[in-house]
Amino acid sequence: MASGWNETTARHVLQQHGQLHVLEFWDELTATERHQLLAQLVEVDYAGLTASWQTQANAAASADALDLSRAEPPPALRLPITTIDSSLATDEAITRTRRLGEQAMARGGLGFVLVAGGQGTRLGFPHPKGMFPCGPVSQRSLFQIYVDRLLALRRRYGVSIPLYLMTSPATHDETVEFFRRHRNFNYPESDVMIFCQGTMPSLDIVTGRLLLAEKHALALSPNGHGGTLEALQRYGCLEDMRARRVEHLWYFQVDNPLVPLGDPFFLGAHLQAQSEMTTQVGAKRDPAERVGNVIALDGRLHVVEYTELPETLAQQRDVDGSLRYWAGNLAVHLFERTFLERMSGRSDVLPYHLARKKVEYRNQRGERMVPEAPNAIKFEKFIFDLMPHAARPLVVEVDLQVAFAPIKNADGADRDTPQSAREAMVSLHRRWLEEAGAQLAPDILVEIDPQFAWDVTELAQKLPPATRVLRDTFFTLK
Ligand code: UTP
Repeated sequence: MASGWNETTARHVLQQHGQLHVLEFWDELTATERHQLLAQLVEVDYAGLTASWQTQANAAASADALDLSRAEPPPALRLPITTIDSSLATDEAITRTRRLGEQAMARGGLGFVLVAGGQGTRLGFPHPKGMFPCGPVSQRSLFQIYVDRLLALRRRYGVSIPLYLMTSPATHDETVEFFRRHRNFNYPESDVMIFCQGTMPSLDIVTGRLLLAEKHALALSPNGHGGTLEALQRYGCLEDMRARRVEHLWYFQVDNPLVPLGDPFFLGAHLQAQSEMTTQVGAKRDPAERVGNVIALDGRLHVVEYTELPETLAQQRDVDGSLRYWAGNLAVHLFERTFLERMSGRSDVLPYHLARKKVEYRNQRGERMVPEAPNAIKFEKFIFDLMPHAARPLVVEVDLQVAFAPIKNADGADRDTPQSAREAMVSLHRRWLEEAGAQLAPDILVEIDPQFAWDVTELAQKLPPATRVLRDTFFTLK
């Protein structure tokens, strides 16, 4: 992108904001490098950065400003209504809700946005997380697991379904190449849009000065999953949705292979409540669980990070012994397109959250420094901060065993690893097969492609009577 800035403009603006040091190596740079640096500098929101920096210096981050003494548990649709398994439920109300969701899908009213711009540092996989081979038998990548599910949905409802896939500079090129190499895993070219989210510069933790990653480049990192809002608008995805008459956008993350994409109950409940934003939650198993807490406060819903929920509240229990603040955010949201359009015009709805991280940088002599302790402040927006702005927001509890198998850490950690996710997939699919009448040898791995069977009912129709499964098997279309 042409920067529109020359050296004089840059010096003037940087001087005003106390950031002139980033031109320290200007005389050593080639013409191309100077152009690259200027192109980065023109994009920085200096006033916003300074304001956020001052906020953290005052130790008054946005969520801290909430008076949680008046917090309540959120009103929610709670289990035993479940997601996929509710196809087995006979309750008429549930069936009606599901049907509403199915009708909306059959009208082609639903699109998906997959956010895959994170750096995935905890997993330590040297590629975008979506490329991680996760299928317990098939070794399908996470990306393919989601695409297979969307392909199954398209076939089920006979409609095209747009997939908006958000990357970041850290993941973009490899993701594009991966999809190209695999021919989009058979997903129609015209229905996949891969777009890149924005970045934010990191600041020195002590001085608040911009860090340089190279003599001609700022240390930039993706601006958080909240960057989805701006990027959807900027790359014309909201416009594309409008043109396709897609009214609802299903948001999901790259790290949960059990995410119940296209569950008709979830969509139906969203429609029934005329909600602008509906969120899946799971019941927390212990007070300190590392998930955001969905709470109600003064008639609005918020997500409060686990680090920000006071211990006294986290520990509170109801008379039956269950946690009072039980609702863990699973990062699956359903948005009305019109809500996102309204919000994308407002710069004030998603505040920056600040995190202290280790960031490699160039020191004043231009030497590369690899810090051993957090040396930088990173800025991220979070998508769930839209929740207090939504009209008639809804919270729907899902069964964690059916719908949640996060991959955050490398194998060997005590939770949320590739191994724990594969175990959760196998155990769910073993149960489906058994319910569908199959006999399974103990300890074998099974995996079901949603294109083969969407739920237990379809599985039972597909399996020959008295099926015995004696070895590791991937049930897929031949
Ligand atoms: P995480 O909060 O788990 O962050 O992202 P991460 O960067 O993937 O992993 P760590 O913390 O470095 O180990 C949750 C979801 O949000 C996406 C991620 O790709 C993941 O799907 N995300 C996160 C973005 O798309 N952009 C971001 O800037 C941050």
